[in-house]
Amino acid sequence: KTLTINLTDIKADIAPDMWGLFFEDINFAADGGLYAEMIKNSSFEFPSPFMGWSRVAHDGAEGYHFVQGYEEEGKNRRYLRLQRLNDNGTFGMQNDGFRSMAVKEGENYRLTFLARVAKGNSLSIKAQLRGQGNEVAAEGTVKELTDEWQEYEVMMPSKLTADNINFRILLEGEGELDVDMVSLFPEDTWMGRKRGMRKDLVQLLADMKPGFLRFPGGCIVEGFDLDNRYQWKNTIGKMEERDLLMNRWNVEFAHRNAPDYFQSFGIGFFEYFQLSEDLGAEPLPILSCGLACQYNSGEMVPLAALDEYVQDAIDLIEFANGPLDSFWGNKRAEMGHPEPFGLKYIGVGNENWGPQYIERADIFEKAIKAAYPDIIIVSTSGPSPDGKEFDYLWEELTKRNAELIDEHYYRSPEWFRTNARRYDNYDRNGPKVFAGEYAAHSTTEKDPLKKNNWEAALSEAAFMTGLERNADIVRLASYAPLLAHVNAWQWAPDMIWFDNLQAYATPNYYVQKLFSTNAGNHVLDITYNGQSLAGEEGIYASATIDDHTQELIFKIVNTNPSGQLISISLDGRYNGKEKGKWYEIASDDLTIANSFDEPKAIHPNEKEFTVIHKKINLELKGNSLNVGRIKI
Ligand code: AHR
Repeated sequence: KTLTINLTDIKADIAPDMWGLFFEDINFAADGGLYAEMIKNSSFEFPSPFMGWSRVAHDGAEGYHFVQGYEEEGKNRRYLRLQRLNDNGTFGMQNDGFRSMAVKEGENYRLTFLARVAKGNSLSIKAQLRGQGNEVAAEGTVKELTDEWQEYEVMMPSKLTADNINFRILLEGEGELDVDMVSLFPEDTWMGRKRGMRKDLVQLLADMKPGFLRFPGGCIVEGFDLDNRYQWKNTIGKMEERDLLMNRWNVEFAHRNAPDYFQSFGIGFFEYFQLSEDLGAEPLPILSCGLACQYNSGEMVPLAALDEYVQDAIDLIEFANGPLDSFWGNKRAEMGHPEPFGLKYIGVGNENWGPQYIERADIFEKAIKAAYPDIIIVSTSGPSPDGKEFDYLWEELTKRNAELIDEHYYRSPEWFRTNARRYDNYDRNGPKVFAGEYAAHSTTEKDPLKKNNWEAALSEAAFMTGLERNADIVRLASYAPLLAHVNAWQWAPDMIWFDNLQAYATPNYYVQKLFSTNAGNHVLDITYNGQSLAGEEGIYASATIDDHTQELIFKIVNTNPSGQLISISLDGRYNGKEKGKWYEIASDDLTIANSFDEPKAIHPNEKEFTVIHKKINLELKGNSLNVGRIKI
């Protein structure tokens, strides 16, 4: 087959932030995942105050443990009181972390906690990280505790690498101790920040060079009911001033049961903005529009009471961008970021639908545009990209000149392949699209963890050539969900899987990364017999040009099981003779997936190609994604 690329015929511009990330605290993505805190329920605020904790008392030790309430009201309402009645044996409390803990040999672990002892007591504390066989991986001691609340810090280097670790805080001597905010982090976090994020996970995200970061979800934006919605103001400031909320994904499904899934907001809105900045990604917060998850309670705030919700949006823009003398701009500065975060987008609602959404969205739009005319509003489009509700919202939002509409699709691999022309016929003068959540759900495997297989990823790649060809309509796109803990997930497939020690990337991750790191900034036509390719004879293709590096970039997906000989003829301004770079992901086996045992069972290979007489000849493997770039 001979495909043709005309290098001088630019069809559309590509938004510089087109390929981004969708982040939601689902599957232990934040607490127990990205947020490197190892202690679960570190301030005893879970509704069951000892969830995650158990008492240790053996070899004759006697004592009591209770939770006590502070006299003053606030977010941090409780602390732990330990009373040791004799000096025999071992006495204290154990924390099992998020489906256990992991340590790495030679790494330092920073324990911090607030404590006080009863007057006259000379208790000391021993902290230990221990394995299943009671082997001690790391330990530290704090002596001379005072009778006033005070923060203590102990560094504990680990002697071994192990999963299945637990933490113990033990009392030595007789007497009474109060403890709170027990926190344990690896010292080696992303950017070395105290109370920071897991370095390995953030690195995987950074390697994608994402254009934007959408947060904090997903359904957690909406909540089971309105009380359970995400309220950003409760997620900023000192840790003890932040809320504790049951996670919307605290669900009961057979093997996905997560009764211990809460949001500590250790990653709150400040951290999301900071992470966006670290990644070089545009922050894209989504806020509740006053409708709780319509798959759950569907609770709706009356229009007369919507002001608080709208004010949250206005204040958020001030928190992100406001000057230091503004109330929320000052809060941002107090948290260590005097410079504005440069927020450009704000999302109103997630997967909400019906006239109830439209009437609420109208109120948000009026208020946001009056205060901040340049902020781009992302509207939501309801549950299905092909259903009646979806059409209704598009019609209504189009009438209102909506700027960006967030579409979600979790469909079969076949749907992705046959929908590569989905955006070819969208109205060029209508709202732009944010493909805010999508993933191919392969049904060929029984084991749900394997759903991140090559069939799904290859079909997404085919579909994504269609997103790229239509970059004038599709402004932003993100795969979802992003992260999943192998022992605590509620939704599959997911882009990156991890346990407490390590992580691996799926083929879907590699597809996303190849698109986002080889984006280009203008769309070119890549044609076969004068037509763009979106599945004809099993081939999908798109081409772009990168003005900054002066390169042509092409992406060709071959969904045929057999290899294909392709020749690309370069019309227009090509003068070079150079070799080009070729990234290839291919497998005959569509069910292949990565795992901890084989983290790179399927991943991109780097090859080269040469241009001879303005022609690139490629031997495409069966079931392959091929991304090429060459100087022009
Ligand atoms: O990505 C998982 C969930 O799918 C999101 O929370 C929600 O927006 C969608 O239904």
